Amino acid sequence: MHSPESTKVKFAPSFVCADYLHLKRDIRSLERAKVDMLHFDIMDGHYVPNLTIGPDFVMAMRQCTTLPFDIHLMTTDPDFWIPLFAEVGNATLSVQVEAPIHLNRTISFIKEHGARASVALNPATPLCSLDHILQDIEQVLIMTVNPGYSGQKLIPAMYDKIRCLRKMIDASGLDVEIQVDGGLSPKTAPKLAAAGATVMVGGKSSFFLKGVPIGKAVQRIRKTIK
Ligand code: DX5
Ligand code: ZN
Repeated sequence: MHSPESTKVKFAPSFVCADYLHLKRDIRSLERAKVDMLHFDIMDGHYVPNLTIGPDFVMAMRQCTTLPFDIHLMTTDPDFWIPLFAEVGNATLSVQVEAPIHLNRTISFIKEHGARASVALNPATPLCSLDHILQDIEQVLIMTVNPGYSGQKLIPAMYDKIRCLRKMIDASGLDVEIQVDGGLSPKTAPKLAAAGATVMVGGKSSFFLKGVPIGKAVQRIRKTIK
């Protein structure tokens, strides 16, 4: 049975917010700060009105670290991208529940390629879309902002959605992570943890704060969560 205090909350810095001129330096700082994984926001300019990084970039980052990679596919055709990103190894692949036509087949496809399977829900997407897939995945990613850009404000209604998902997972007896993504800050972190989140993605308002060394920024968030 999950109790917020009992589960160590994991940190997943959103690497598209790193300093593109000092990527290796930022990876080393994140490793020293003992973050649990690197989160990569893959945006294709169709599913969301933004374009970020591709498989070559993620593969290059794999040469610098053995940290687990948490790859968030905000793309219209996730099946096309799954083999290319799963190749990076030690990876979780999150697909938007709203994107694939055959979600069950897409989840199996992720696992066939040796990655951990995760499903992301946009803020307006109801939890019932998980009813017939929860037993097949290791993580649910609750978007706490509308996908596409970092630096947005967290949508407060998502706290309740996380609490409901926490109850749903606990009642199922399944061991599924609740990852939250968007608007993480020293203010929102404790409320997200109390609601039952177990993995926190963070960018501009948390781990990559302008003018604050990464180690300090990570410590600041860690201190807000009991
Ligand atoms: C939205 C992105 C952001 C990013 C985190 O599509 O997925 O949520 O990871 O950025 P912040 O923490 O700045 O909202
Ligand atoms: Zn993300």
